[in-house]
Parts: sequence; C-alpha cells; structure tokens
Amino acid sequence: MKSFASYLRVFVLVAIAVAGTEYLMETEPGQWAVLEYPFAGVFIGIVLIFAIAVEASIASLRNVLYQSLSDEGKERYHASEQAKVSKLEEKWDSLMQSMTKSKEIEEEHEIILDHDYDGIKELDNRLPPWWLYSFYATIIFGVIYLVRFHVVGDYTQAEEYEREVAMAQEEIEAYLATAEDIINVDNVSFLEDSSDLKKGEKIYTANCVACHRADGGGGIGPNLTDEYWILGGGIKNVFKTISEGGRPGKGMVAWKSDLSAKEMQQVASYVLTLQENDPADGKAPEGDVWEEEE
Ligand code: HEC
Repeated sequence: MKSFASYLRVFVLVAIAVAGTEYLMETEPGQWAVLEYPFAGVFIGIVLIFAIAVEASIASLRNVLYQSLSDEGKERYHASEQAKVSKLEEKWDSLMQSMTKSKEIEEEHEIILDHDYDGIKELDNRLPPWWLYSFYATIIFGVIYLVRFHVVGDYTQAEEYEREVAMAQEEIEAYLATAEDIINVDNVSFLEDSSDLKKGEKIYTANCVACHRADGGGGIGPNLTDEYWILGGGIKNVFKTISEGGRPGKGMVAWKSDLSAKEMQQVASYVLTLQENDPADGKAPEGDVWEEEE
C-alpha cells in the first residue's frame, strides 16, 4: 500500500463512513457523534482497519502478479503505467491551455510589443477566458441587480434585515419553548405545579433551612414569610437573589453555580409559597413592603 491513489481511497472511504454516521446519528449542533458515542468511534476505526487491509491485500496481490511476469512483461507493464500518467498530464495541460490561452515561452516573440523600458517589455497576451467570462458574468449580474433593486424595487436592505431578524426571533422562541434550562431573570415565572413546588421544597430543605429555617421564619437570613423584602419580592427578584446572592458580606451566596436555572426557579417559587406561613417566633421584618407591579 504505497501509491497515492490507495491513500486517497482509504481517506474517501473513511470520510464517507464519518459523514454517514454524523448524518444518521442525531447530536447537538457542534458535537461529533464519532466523539460523543464510543461505538461510533469504534465503527469508524473498524472501517479504517478494513480499508487498510483491503488496500494491503490488493497491493501484495499485484506485487505477486508483477513478480510472476517475465522481464518483457514487466517492461510492457511499466510502459502502460507510464502511458496512463502522461495521458492525465496531457488532459490537464489542455484544460489549462483552454482556460488561459497563454502563449508558450518559445512563442512569446509573436506577441511582444515594441516598447522597452530599461529591458522591461510588454506581452500582448490574450485575456484569459476564465477571467473574461467571469467579467461578463459580473456585468450580467450588475444589470440584473440594477433593474431588480433600483428600477423595480424588489425589496430594500431594511426589509431584508427585518425579515431575517423576525426569522431568527421565531427560531429563538421555538428553542426557548423546548429548552428547559434557558430560564433567566427576564423570563422566569412562578411555578404553580405541585411537583415543581415539591422539588423546590427539597432544594430548600437541603440548602436553605440553616439560615432561613424550615418554616421560613428566618435566623441568620431574613424572614421569608412576611411581605417585607430587603432585595425585592416577586418571582423575578427572588430568583435574582438566589442566583446572584445578597449584598456582599451578608451571608447569602450566589447559588447559580450549585443549582441549575430550573432548580432556582423551583426553589424561588417555593420560597414565595412560604408567604402563607405565619410563624409566631419569626424574625422581625426587614426591608420594605413589596407590591407586585402590574
Ligand atoms: C449562610 C446562610 C444562608 C443560606 C444557606 C441561604 N441564605 Fe438566603 N439569605 C441569607 C442572608 C444573610 C440574606 C440577606 C441578604 C442581604 O441582606 O443582602 C438572605 C436573603 C435571601 C433572600 C432575599 C430576602 C429579602 O428579604 O430580600 C432570599 C429570597 C433567600 N435568601 C433565599 C434563599 C434560598 C432559596 C436559599 C437556599 C438555596 C438561601 N437563601 C440560602 C442567608 C442565607
């Protein structure tokens, strides 16, 4: 397995296998199934080893056949291989020639212009067809563009912008509707569902009772059952306090690195249900009365 062609075949086969795997297996955008799922990686590995094995067997088979040839046969074999290569080269040259229409160096004297600046001369080469046709294409494009947008007025850049923004907005909404953890201060809402409130209670019991007490009456932290709030009441403020923490040095840390957005929403909702409690020995109110603005 030494020729360039066999490396190319192995590469193409593995590339097809990778592309097929990525296409068939659904992953998050930006993730590679081959890296995410071990068996996909193993599959690609098997394809690679298989391809190398096939190439190696073909190569050794060829070698055996080659060795079995007589000297004359070997020569004929080389000649035919050589012919294949020169045919490819010829094709390539004629393609280049048709795209550039350039003169060979030996023929340049036919197109040299007769001015001469200190030995610098000018060749009157033909415009290369690839360049010329691209130039014509830009002219056609320009005419169509001019008529479409400046004469007929199909749509303006502003309209195009609006349309794309609206499309992106739709995509964002569709994404937010399915993604649970994309909850932030701006879109957080109170969860009425009892299963969410149960989870919120669990999180509260595990993390918050030490300072706020199980009934919310307060201790190190303020009373959560009264209508007075230091940092603002309502789901948005409470979520923000839990996520970002209280004022520096007061003891209320930011929970966003320990709890997911969903969990913070659940515990924030639970905290608001503590308003129903009225512990006799609760901590004295701190802060201001919070009124929900409509
Ligand atoms: C180490 C003690 C401590 C723990 C644990 C703690 N807090 Fe606090 N919490 C405080 C203190 C102290 C404040 C007052 C912060 C301030 O004054 O800025 C506070 C304030 C708050 C407030 C705002 C109250 C107001 O009046 O504005 C909320 C809501 C809150 N905590 C919820 C929680 C939740 C939910 C948890 C558990 C995830 C929690 N806290 C865990 C000590 C704690």
